[in-house]
Amino acid sequence: MSGPNTSFDPKQVASLDAAAIDAMVADAVAAVAAAGDLDALKAVRLAHAGDRSPIALANREIGALPPAAKAEAGKRVGQARAAVKAALDERQAVLEAERDARVLVEESVDVTLPTDWQPVGARHPLTTLMERVGDVFVAMGYEIAEGPEVEAEWANFDALNIGPDHPARTMQDTFFVAAPDSGVVLRTHTSPVQIRSMLDRPLPIYVIAPGRVYRTDELDATHTPVFHQIEGLAVDRDITMGDLRGTLDHFAAAMFGEGIRTRMRPSYFPFTEPSAEVDLQCFVCRGESVGNPDRPCRTCGSEGWIEWGGCGMVNPRVLVAVGIDPTQYRGFAFGMGVERTLMFRNGVADMHDIVEGDARFSLAFGVEA
Ligand code: DAH
Repeated sequence: MSGPNTSFDPKQVASLDAAAIDAMVADAVAAVAAAGDLDALKAVRLAHAGDRSPIALANREIGALPPAAKAEAGKRVGQARAAVKAALDERQAVLEAERDARVLVEESVDVTLPTDWQPVGARHPLTTLMERVGDVFVAMGYEIAEGPEVEAEWANFDALNIGPDHPARTMQDTFFVAAPDSGVVLRTHTSPVQIRSMLDRPLPIYVIAPGRVYRTDELDATHTPVFHQIEGLAVDRDITMGDLRGTLDHFAAAMFGEGIRTRMRPSYFPFTEPSAEVDLQCFVCRGESVGNPDRPCRTCGSEGWIEWGGCGMVNPRVLVAVGIDPTQYRGFAFGMGVERTLMFRNGVADMHDIVEGDARFSLAFGVEA
């Protein structure tokens, strides 16, 4: 190895003379100015400021210079590099700003364009109410039962102790499917699900059956030819009317709030004996409007009670019709109108709102999954 070349003429390192360096800078600046986009500028940066750029290569030559010449060459190269870097950075800023402005335009969304957006619907409050009732009873160990809406006349009437000439039969203004003697009807109540459950399921039986029913009523503010009921049935060895009361009280509390009371009034249904109408203590005034003209209650008409549904102990004749021994088993049953329950529970004044299917009505009850 030879020692440092003290007699080396710096002018011999052509790439380090001022003109050469100036030319490199001029080249670089011209290339920077010509770069039309950020990709092109990246290539320029590599070519003119990268490790293999002319200036970087010139920089490497400095080591070969005699000490006296190093400082000046170093300064020159340093200034050249700074100038190129400044040009690059300035152009980078300009091109980035251009790109950002372009992206803003290209990717902007025209919110005035027509779209095929559909408003979010909501489940019907009848559906969610029936599900809630189902949950209340499932929590007590009941099963959800179903039956067909096109039902055998036998299950809808005869098995429920409503014989062909029974006056109650004409009360239930029935839609017959095909001829009236076809033996097939649109079920007029959910009580035939009692019959099907007792035929199909092992004892003991605890079922709740929400469902759609049909009667030849005209649609008005309080009636609809298609409506919903919730049927309950328990058949076990030691069922009493006390069990029925307790169950209805629990059901009422779950629907209308803790502490709501129920009341039974004697009534008549062919499929229960004894039978009762179930009234609900008015959950708005809790009875305080009765005899109190200063505090009238619109919900119960200041009666203190609201008619809710029918109930009773399963008539032994019904148990016999489905082959259950009435000396061994007893049952209770109840049936409520779901529309009616929704109307007084949620203050719905007009049946039309329930049947028309306007999503705005359903949305007012919230969107339930
Ligand atoms: N099925 C009766 C109706 O539609 C309601 C009813 C009353 C159901 C008493 C029952 C009951 O289960 O025990 O009017």
